[in-house]
Amino acid sequence: MAVSKTSTIVWGIEHLMKKGQDLPANIMRNLQIIQAIASAEKRLGKTNFYHSDIGQPLDHNLPIHKLIVQGSEFAVSVLKKSPELRGYTSPVGLLVLRESFADFYKKYWRFEIDPETLLISNGASEMWNAFVHSSLWPGDLVLTCDPHYNPFDVALAETGAGWLSIKTKSENGYHFTKTDFEKTLLRKPKKGSLKAVYINSPSNPTGVIYSKKEIDLFVDFALKNQLFIVMDSVYALYNYSNNPNLVDYLKSIPKTKLEKINDRLIFLDSMSKLAHNPGVRIGMGMIPNPKTRKQMFSDLSIRGNVQNHGQMKSAFVLDKIGRNPTLLNDQKLLYRKKMAIAYQIVKKNLMDKRIIPSSPPPEGSLYLTIKTGFDNFDFLIWSMTKYQGKNATSFVPLTVGKTSFRAVDADEGRRELRLCIGSDLKIIEAAIDSFVNQVIAYKKFISEAG
Ligand SMILES: Cc1ncc(COP(=O)(O)O)c(C=O)c1O
Repeated sequence: MAVSKTSTIVWGIEHLMKKGQDLPANIMRNLQIIQAIASAEKRLGKTNFYHSDIGQPLDHNLPIHKLIVQGSEFAVSVLKKSPELRGYTSPVGLLVLRESFADFYKKYWRFEIDPETLLISNGASEMWNAFVHSSLWPGDLVLTCDPHYNPFDVALAETGAGWLSIKTKSENGYHFTKTDFEKTLLRKPKKGSLKAVYINSPSNPTGVIYSKKEIDLFVDFALKNQLFIVMDSVYALYNYSNNPNLVDYLKSIPKTKLEKINDRLIFLDSMSKLAHNPGVRIGMGMIPNPKTRKQMFSDLSIRGNVQNHGQMKSAFVLDKIGRNPTLLNDQKLLYRKKMAIAYQIVKKNLMDKRIIPSSPPPEGSLYLTIKTGFDNFDFLIWSMTKYQGKNATSFVPLTVGKTSFRAVDADEGRRELRLCIGSDLKIIEAAIDSFVNQVIAYKKFISEAG
């Protein structure tokens, strides 16, 4: 099917949203996608269907799962003994959890952070919302790379803010040059002003890990122009490259520069990927500037506190993994291995045979994002509803209608898709083999359909 020439909506003052139906949804939760995946799972049966859609670790029986269960039991025992934890607690987050985050950072990352600069949220997602709602105005723009984490569009659109994004390509491993950076700034719309930069590394969906030079371009520009610096570090553990993750970056820069960054920094982390526990919905923001932190705190105060059981459970897990670095190091190696297996299967069967374009392996995170050259929403619906193979694997198209991981180039986004490597090691090979068969069958189908 031909890919149409249409663009996605770049939210902002130039395109004020009609509230309601215009709200850009999180692609992974798109109803058509969810329904198609559910129908395929029903049609093929749970054991013949592999989930590579929503981005989350799906492994079973890793050592961390024992700690998560023990953490739940610990939290129940603490709640039984502490009636005050059955009531509202501080919107800032429990001190015990903020101290556990700081202690974990000291032990595992060897990076000192002050628990007083931390806020606890319902996942990193809520912290992003708190930043956008408390600190951006209609017309404000956030400089980032495309593809970017699409669910973060929602708060921007609600605010009348938007992205200014640097277009990157799969064939370059989604890296960018100084020229790409400078050319993007020339594209800034006349209305609205840049207020923040958003750096997500390792990235969702691309798996890119930016070099120190690339991060410096964002950071130096932000310092020069007095912008907020949002660093999204939720995939910090999953770095399979020699480039620094965002903690390594902050550790590597001179103290005077770090102080300047701290004045503008909103640093995001969460239990979702680090501790294999997205369901607990615990995130943290490190916001050293008291004024910015107070603004974000005011926004978070509407929901009272984050549930106390999840906070106590997370404090328990962080204490344990901080004391046992091997556990996380093994988790990282496992994901490196799964990524190598997944990439090799796609390379050997699709890229090397020129069935799809070639691109280098992802450098980190949980995603294999590839360019197929055809419309991947059509491909997904066909795979889930018509494909006749015995097994099938789900995935996420990067662009669906006006919603996209790409704010600048919907056509490019339609040609790309994202596979999550969260499945257990023992099924990842079967899942990617099945995906390869789907691509081959779909190419045959579209060529026969003319
Ligand atoms: C880049 C990125 N940032 C933030 C989040 C939000 O994570 P959570 O709200 O589960 O902490 C995700 C989740 O997938 C993500 O991929």
